[in-house]
Amino acid sequence: MPKKAKKSFQSVKGMADILPQSQPYWEYLRQCVHKTAQAYGFERIDTPIVEDEDLFKVSAGETSDIVQKQMYSFKSKGGDNLVLRPEGTAPIMRSYIEHGMLNLPQPLKLYYMGPFFRYEQPQGGRYRQFYQFGFEVLGEESPVVDAQLVNIFINIMKEVGFKNIEAQVNSIGCKECRPKFRSALVAYYKHNINKVCKDCRKRVKSNPLRVLDCKDEKCLQLKQRAPQTLDYLCDSCQRHFKYVLEYLDELEIPYALNPHLVRGLDYYTKTVFEFFLKEKDEAQPEGAEAPSFAVGGGGRFDALGDVIGNKKVFSAGMAGGMERIVYFMKKMEIKVPQGPQPHVFIAQLGDMGKKKSLKLFENLRSKGIRPVEFFGKDSIKSQLRIADKMGIKHTLILGQKEALDGNIILRDMESGIQELFPMDRIVDEIKKRLKK
Ligand code: HAM
Repeated sequence: MPKKAKKSFQSVKGMADILPQSQPYWEYLRQCVHKTAQAYGFERIDTPIVEDEDLFKVSAGETSDIVQKQMYSFKSKGGDNLVLRPEGTAPIMRSYIEHGMLNLPQPLKLYYMGPFFRYEQPQGGRYRQFYQFGFEVLGEESPVVDAQLVNIFINIMKEVGFKNIEAQVNSIGCKECRPKFRSALVAYYKHNINKVCKDCRKRVKSNPLRVLDCKDEKCLQLKQRAPQTLDYLCDSCQRHFKYVLEYLDELEIPYALNPHLVRGLDYYTKTVFEFFLKEKDEAQPEGAEAPSFAVGGGGRFDALGDVIGNKKVFSAGMAGGMERIVYFMKKMEIKVPQGPQPHVFIAQLGDMGKKKSLKLFENLRSKGIRPVEFFGKDSIKSQLRIADKMGIKHTLILGQKEALDGNIILRDMESGIQELFPMDRIVDEIKKRLKK
């Protein structure tokens, strides 16, 4: 049989490897999220990556892009229709209802972090597998929560090191007042149907609010004069939004009112918001569209409990896109802590030297000293070269003779001075030198 040509494997389109050199950025971002979550009393929750397909059909909406175009759906061997989760809010609500968390003291403040999947057209900042952190407050009606969530997102960004964070806010009303807005919007777009893109011609009929999300130049133009949600809010939604804005003012959070912000998921009610990071010195020209690169978004979703489990659960939340945030961390040269540097290099020579070095490594490690080794190498010269390159100050050299005599050489890599020590004193000596 002729041999098949070997396939050259690559990561799947839209799914990226996070390489070691990027890990310090990710680790730092995760730390900032954990730290802020704890400071505001949020508890961690993790839900499975795979969920029932219907969970997102009922929550994000049958006509949302997520459900219509972006779900990784498959049938399990048992015949269940499953999906790789496209977002985190519906699973959290599912878990909250499933585990009877309604009976715990309310509100429940939960946060999570992990991978999500959307079959999108990959482009800058848009992936098919991406990571989000998310915060959800379940069982609380007060508008103070909406403002707090905006505040928490901004504080995570500040903790990371960003200074220029823009929050855009809007209210899209509730099931009482939104139909009126929807009718006005449909009337406006029907009147201008020849001025919208091909996709939006369909959207006007199926899901008119989505037309406001369209990034097509023609649709962006037309949006400028489209009806605004705020003009159609009922008294209750108006009052709620007024308080949200007052609390944001009280917290001294700068925000921009974006009367056309609607968000791409159907479960939102009342407040919605999105976050943008502005690059250094890049002043936004007046009246220009905000960068299309939202690093986070969220809002209130008071009706979600009802569609998922027939429960009234007043809730709000937000999520951040971690790839996008890491992109800006690198772009803006934010300094992040590097992983802990090794304290001491162990260089070994000969069979006996290698064997004793294995034990020495464990001994140092158990005393809180971080050793580093290249036990596969046999030449002292090449090991010292590596130690030098790594910028390590102390190297321990264990050759055949030292191993036999129960000694070890300690080399100061800066001065090149080498001293001989009995093996049983070396840990104390290293500790002493690390303190200096
Ligand atoms: P979302 O706006 O769809 O909201 O996603 C939140 C963030 O995830 C976005 O602002 C963006 O930074 C990032 N993101 C979304 N899609 C992609 C992608 N394809 N590639 C890279 N990053 C992406 C939600 O998912 C809601 N669950 C947020 C929420 C929580 N609402 C209430 N609670």
